Amino acid sequence: MNPYLQRLEPYPFAKLQQLFSDLTPAVGKAPITLSIGEPQHASPAFVLQTISDNLQRLANYPTSAGLPELRLAIAAWLQRRYALPAVDPDTQILPVNGTREALFAFAQAVVSPGLGALVMSPNPFYQIYEGAALLAGARPHFINCTAESGFLPDFSSVTEQQWQQCQLLYLCSPGNPTGAVMTLHQLQDIIRLSREYDFVIASDECYSEIYFDEKSPPPGLLEACADMGDGNFRNCVVFHSLSKRSNLPGLRSGFVAGDAEILRAFLQYRTYHGCAMPLHHQLGSIAAWNDEEHVKANRQQYRDKFAAVLAQFHGHLSVAMPDAGFYLWPQTPVSDIEFARQLYAGENVTVLPGRFLARESGGINPGENRVRMALVASAEHCVEAAQRIVHRLGKL
Ligand SMILES: Cc1ncc(COP(=O)(O)O)c(C=O)c1O
Repeated sequence: MNPYLQRLEPYPFAKLQQLFSDLTPAVGKAPITLSIGEPQHASPAFVLQTISDNLQRLANYPTSAGLPELRLAIAAWLQRRYALPAVDPDTQILPVNGTREALFAFAQAVVSPGLGALVMSPNPFYQIYEGAALLAGARPHFINCTAESGFLPDFSSVTEQQWQQCQLLYLCSPGNPTGAVMTLHQLQDIIRLSREYDFVIASDECYSEIYFDEKSPPPGLLEACADMGDGNFRNCVVFHSLSKRSNLPGLRSGFVAGDAEILRAFLQYRTYHGCAMPLHHQLGSIAAWNDEEHVKANRQQYRDKFAAVLAQFHGHLSVAMPDAGFYLWPQTPVSDIEFARQLYAGENVTVLPGRFLARESGGINPGENRVRMALVASAEHCVEAAQRIVHRLGKL
């Protein structure tokens, strides 16, 4: 067996199952799950129609590079979304089967394994970054995101030697679970570091389209490069997805874009890995990337839900509106573990203890005494969950 497999932690949902194994949820209260970040708004009907209209394409093998029309639609979307002067659909874009597989596979392609190899990521973080680093034969290095650092990675904690050993840095903006967004200037500071120390930046931007102010969408890494006058996006690759933007988590459709040299190597890796996107999914994806109306309507649903849920919590729970994304990351009045257990046993509401999403680094676990709540269910269910949580808070 691959010895690196033994280094993988159980996934947070496996830890959650274990945590609740001795509990029976309250009777008479229907379960409400806030622990999983699976979008539950309706998928756009026109995308589903396009997919079903093209089922006959199952008769053909798709290529790893994807249809030129898909890459063109993605390039046009990127240019519109981030006001980029140019993106070359042939060399600077690759379709992927959702960002999860791509974030994992990317490390396998770009990391040179060895004792000194470091892969850095925010802490707390999307768990794939750690598994990707370990299986690529590198050591993960976690950079804490705390209230003091605005819930963004505290890069000032990284030493000169650690930067020298860094081969790959994952960014996540808007962040999961903190919802914090990096500014254009913060992104540019990191781009400058990546060039000074020669590491690759993998910027996970899969929540980029879930934001609250229509006039200020979160900036992206390619935008930061272009703003510095670099249209080659040297060392920079972004990861985008239709899962959250278009409520299509089952489509497994996303893309990576950026540095053409890196993408050439990644395409070669993917050719062997064998993870081309089915053609009818590519055609459905083109329809989705070409439309913004459903994305705007989706944002409005989240805006309404956040307002309704935060109104319930006001004065009861220490929780802030995130910059973007669909998570709340409140402080817990008792330990995150105890809080999650009480909510499950007493209210049949499932939340994820923050420590399951983070590792101890610099002497602290920045997920401790916080929980992640995903506001993905209907407004009605999210509000009911909030009311039950407030009820439980009154009993602690
Ligand atoms: C931060 C982050 N990145 C990536 C993903 C993967 O999304 P997908 O593979 O559906 O694009 C998720 C899913 O929850 C996520 O939270």
